[in-house]
Amino acid sequence: MSDFGTADAIALYNVDRWGGGYFTVNTSGHVAARPNNNGSAEIDLMELVEEAKSRGLAFPMVIRFQDLLRHRVETINQSFAEAIAEHGYKGVYRGVFPIKVNQLREVVEEILDAGRSFHFGIEAGSKPELMAALAVHEDNESLIICNGYKDTEFIRMALLGRKLGKTVILVVEKLEELSHILRVSKQIGVEPFIGLRVRLLSKGAGKWATSGGENAKFGLSTADLVEASAMLHGAGMPDAFKLLHFHVGSQVPDIGTIKRATREAARFYAKLRKMGHSLGYLDVGGGLGVDYDGSRTTFDSSTNYSLDEYARDIVYSIAEICDAENVPHPTIVSESGRAIVAHHSVLIVEAFGSIEKSKGTQSVIALPDDPKPVHEMIEVRDNLGSKNRLENMHDAQEIRERAQGMFDLGLLDLPAKAKVETIYWEIAGSIVEMFRSMRYVPEEVKEMEIALGDQFLCNFSVFQSLLDHWALGQLFPVMPIHRLKELPDRNATLVDITCDSDGKVSKFIDLQDVKETLPLHRWKAGCPYYIGFFLAGAYQDIMGDLHNLFGRVNEMHVFLDDDEDSGYYVEEVLPGSTVAQVLSLTQWDTNEMARRVKSQMDAAIKGDRLKPKEGMRLLDDYERALTAYTYLNFDDQTIAEKDRKA
Ligand SMILES: Cc1ncc(COP(=O)(O)O)c(C=O)c1O
Repeated sequence: MSDFGTADAIALYNVDRWGGGYFTVNTSGHVAARPNNNGSAEIDLMELVEEAKSRGLAFPMVIRFQDLLRHRVETINQSFAEAIAEHGYKGVYRGVFPIKVNQLREVVEEILDAGRSFHFGIEAGSKPELMAALAVHEDNESLIICNGYKDTEFIRMALLGRKLGKTVILVVEKLEELSHILRVSKQIGVEPFIGLRVRLLSKGAGKWATSGGENAKFGLSTADLVEASAMLHGAGMPDAFKLLHFHVGSQVPDIGTIKRATREAARFYAKLRKMGHSLGYLDVGGGLGVDYDGSRTTFDSSTNYSLDEYARDIVYSIAEICDAENVPHPTIVSESGRAIVAHHSVLIVEAFGSIEKSKGTQSVIALPDDPKPVHEMIEVRDNLGSKNRLENMHDAQEIRERAQGMFDLGLLDLPAKAKVETIYWEIAGSIVEMFRSMRYVPEEVKEMEIALGDQFLCNFSVFQSLLDHWALGQLFPVMPIHRLKELPDRNATLVDITCDSDGKVSKFIDLQDVKETLPLHRWKAGCPYYIGFFLAGAYQDIMGDLHNLFGRVNEMHVFLDDDEDSGYYVEEVLPGSTVAQVLSLTQWDTNEMARRVKSQMDAAIKGDRLKPKEGMRLLDDYERALTAYTYLNFDDQTIAEKDRKA
């Protein structure tokens, strides 16, 4: 038994750095969530796994910590309140949650509830999002901001909100939209609240940088803004212009970008006020990043600033420019999505097997009849020593290549090829071990270590649950959620169950670099192994697609509760998609499918290829499979149970 302990696990997986105080490893060696961001309440993730199992819920599964969500909302509002007090700022903060980042009703409602005392509002980027926003929004002191391109119906819905007494602001993304809004509002007889999105020169960095800058998809140039001002004056509605908005892109890693963009926008704000508009809101958009890798750097998956620093820099920059321009301080609006929801959800997947290249044992012996490369490889293995290890490695590589050449020419049979490869990986494993504690490890040995990595087979779809990892290479913290008092002595990549070679996770967070493998424990048959993907609450839920028809995953919503012995209760369980549901999204009628299968059964029974009783049982199986979860089910007992009941 190694003397690996929970503190080592916390250090190995950098939990304290990316966890932001919301996650830790407890004395049982399990990951625990701390939704209040302090030690007052801890929820053991393995307890939740057991609870899910006892409710018959299968994996993969998303666990949402609703209190954590509330804590995020409170924290961002407090950070701005403190910054405002510290800098003697004369305006207030009115944040909005961009509903596109996570549209789940329970998430949106929780955020609005937690933000009620701060008058925290909603941002909608499409008609369906606005419809949802109008329905859940109750606090007329909070804002509804409408971004995105708009048609007449979108504008009418926003104006309906105005009629209900809500501060709904229609943000103009392109000039023609302004005349459209003015026309529709005249027809309806409601004065609109208008925002203009400015296209700043300041541009972000990172994966979402193209959302900002001169060539951004949305926003008005300086010339457009001047024309918009003239149009509003011409329509006799200069004061309908209430808000100036900008957005430099999501996950901005460098605080310098935020400062530059805010100052530039504040200057636009001041100049536009001086052009005869009484606008009172400056909306700094989204972009507040999440330190996914915990490195606190300007790397794509990180941020070199804290939430407090972000709030202070925005407040200070706006105040400084407005004071210099002698215009009143505006109400500050931000549209932070990722930073509010990323932490609250964890995706738990089950590894159901592993492919190991090297077993770490000398399993192959040579027989006299074996061809030369087998004997040569065994000789290298048996003479392996620390003095000549690199030379041995090169010899083994050369023998393997030669054996491959012989195989291509038909001169090597499969058992011999298998022996050569097995011994090769044994040698590779030994060489990597010899370098384990060395200060300098040659590049070729590092590459060999990566090549030697196991592949853990995980019951989930990257395309459904981690789309940004596949599409953009975004990194998420990943770690086993148990066995953390045991040394994780395997290095592995994770492969999903889609029939797609891209369906894998082979890039992992690291403080200095990006790691190609993740330390995991040896997979043991019959012992479920659970891996958590953390900080997965932003964007992934809704962007996931149905590759191979793997559908939405099961969800469990967890609340802290002192009155419960466990300290928490599961407020809600949302079942993931069934096979029938995903099929119906692609125009399959499952009744018709069952009917067709039945007529084939009937024909088989008639043709004596199937007994009637067996045919009916198979039909039952088919119909039952249509109602099942789309992911793999290893719980054979459950199936047997159902069989018995049937
Ligand atoms: C206009 C707008 N506002 C807000 C956001 C949310 O950004 P984030 O999740 O980085 O806070 C986005 C996302 O890109 C956006 O396009």
